[in-house]
Amino acid sequence: MSALRRIALVGLPGSGKSAVAPLLAARLGWASVDIDDEVVADAGKPIEQVVVDDGEQAFRDLEQAALERAMRRSDSIVIACGGGLIAQEAARRLLHDMSCVVWLDAPDALLVERLGNGAGRPLLRGNPAERIPQLRAMRQPAHDSAHLTVSAAAEPGEVAGRVAAALKGAVRVPLGTRGYTIEISPGALDDVPLHLPPAATRVALIADRAAGGPARRLAGAVQRSGREVTALPVNGGERLKTWGAAGRLLGRLSDAGVRRHDCVVALGGGSVGDVAGFVAATHLRGVAWINVPTTLLAMVDSAIGGKTGVNLARGKNLAGAVWQPRAVVCDPELLGTLPDRPYRSAFAEIVKYSMIRDRGLAALLDAHLPELLERDAGPLAAVVRQSCVIKAEIVAADERESGERAILNYGHTVGHALEAATAYDGALNHGEAVAVGMRAAGILSVELLGCPRDQIRWQDRVLEHCGLAASPRVDPTLVLRHMAADKKAVGAGVRWVLLEARGRPRFGQAVPERAVRQALDQVLAR
Ligand SMILES: NC(=O)c1ccc[n+]([C@@H]2O[C@H](COP(=O)([O-])OP(=O)(O)OC[C@H]3O[C@@H](n4cnc5c(N)ncnc54)[C@H](O)[C@@H]3O)[C@@H](O)[C@H]2O)c1
Repeated sequence: MSALRRIALVGLPGSGKSAVAPLLAARLGWASVDIDDEVVADAGKPIEQVVVDDGEQAFRDLEQAALERAMRRSDSIVIACGGGLIAQEAARRLLHDMSCVVWLDAPDALLVERLGNGAGRPLLRGNPAERIPQLRAMRQPAHDSAHLTVSAAAEPGEVAGRVAAALKGAVRVPLGTRGYTIEISPGALDDVPLHLPPAATRVALIADRAAGGPARRLAGAVQRSGREVTALPVNGGERLKTWGAAGRLLGRLSDAGVRRHDCVVALGGGSVGDVAGFVAATHLRGVAWINVPTTLLAMVDSAIGGKTGVNLARGKNLAGAVWQPRAVVCDPELLGTLPDRPYRSAFAEIVKYSMIRDRGLAALLDAHLPELLERDAGPLAAVVRQSCVIKAEIVAADERESGERAILNYGHTVGHALEAATAYDGALNHGEAVAVGMRAAGILSVELLGCPRDQIRWQDRVLEHCGLAASPRVDPTLVLRHMAADKKAVGAGVRWVLLEARGRPRFGQAVPERAVRQALDQVLAR
């Protein structure tokens, strides 16, 4: 499962980790674990006694064992880490691999005030005013590796509320130490600064001009977090995805002095995310980036998985890199200005997820389709979340598409060929073409793999409600020719993704041309 299930709180002594953890857990309906308490219980004596009797290494070993135990739990948990835990290499790797690491940060003076004389904290050696700045300097590299930074200069309840608002219902893309969090909530745009690398002093904001208002709001929020913003407005759309545009943006990043520890933020649809991610992958051989999608397609699909790149004269996405973002922030309120056609056509991908994995999507679509088409932020956030869960699971299982990731191409065999066949008049956008392709794949799934007919009827009915039932007037022979051209590109025959049943996709299926022609006859107009 890729729903976020573990949050680890780290920070200097006095930052309130132990007080915040149970409050945060209560807000999320999760359990909480305090690693220091676990160590005391395991050792049967206070931590200072462990250090005095057995040495600091013995204390660290107990901490590591308690952390490993917490990570093995099957329930959702908030973990309050001892202050020095994140600075230990093995612990840091485990924390990054298995949780969203939240750094609770507060100014030294406030920490010192909260700590009093430092009694009971052996590493403060009775002198917090001297030790806190030293510990901060020592642990800075570890804190810089946190996924989320939240100010701890407030009451614990308020801090817990802040973390809960950002991470409730979040999804995690479990890619080991390159794993990242997808925040999904109305108003999430204002949380983008929390996801920036703590060490970043400049943000290059590559933003679609179509999202000018959100771009200004985001730039203001980043500036208030104490960073410089280099604004790089672009015109979103397929024409942005060129080698030239990427080169010009790279030049602007160099001119602005964007450095290794800085961050690129993409605000826009899939075209902006693809180019900005590619620019982030190549500037100084790779800098951090955050993807803030503004189209429904980007929220449920293109923003997740790290595929970045540009088109070449010979075809789409022929140059690029797999470069995972450090976070994805989905704010359904940003969809308010998206025109109806691209909004509706993204449902082809959502219905696709429901057919290949489901994870509760069919029930959500059955219960809320009219509100979803009206862009009601509540059900929309739920549908975006489940779509992200499915894409994150599939990406994590096969990051570079050597196998299972191919199931994401359900409906795309015909879809891509139709897009190519109609490219000259733009009659079909991507989602509309994929919807036709899913109807064809549905027919073949029933015929060749015995997929239950009522499941395919459900797929076709939902597509129809989304306005995706048109049968385009395209010559089937032309579609077959474009499919064959794709075949030459991969050199291994046309391979289909078909369904044995909902949630049981089979990729790499060879289909006789006669069956394909019959299916095309049913989904294309004469
Ligand atoms: N990287 C991946 O894994 C992946 C997956 C699927 C698709 N893609 C790519 O995504 C691209 C398509 O992305 P897309 O469908 O998100 O569209 P897009 O980025 O091409 O944008 C389409 C249009 O919508 C406008 N727009 C964007 N957000 C808006 C908003 N909130 N309000 C009003 N207008 C807005 C844009 O300016 C543009 O004119 C394609 O290039 C495709 O190859 C990539």
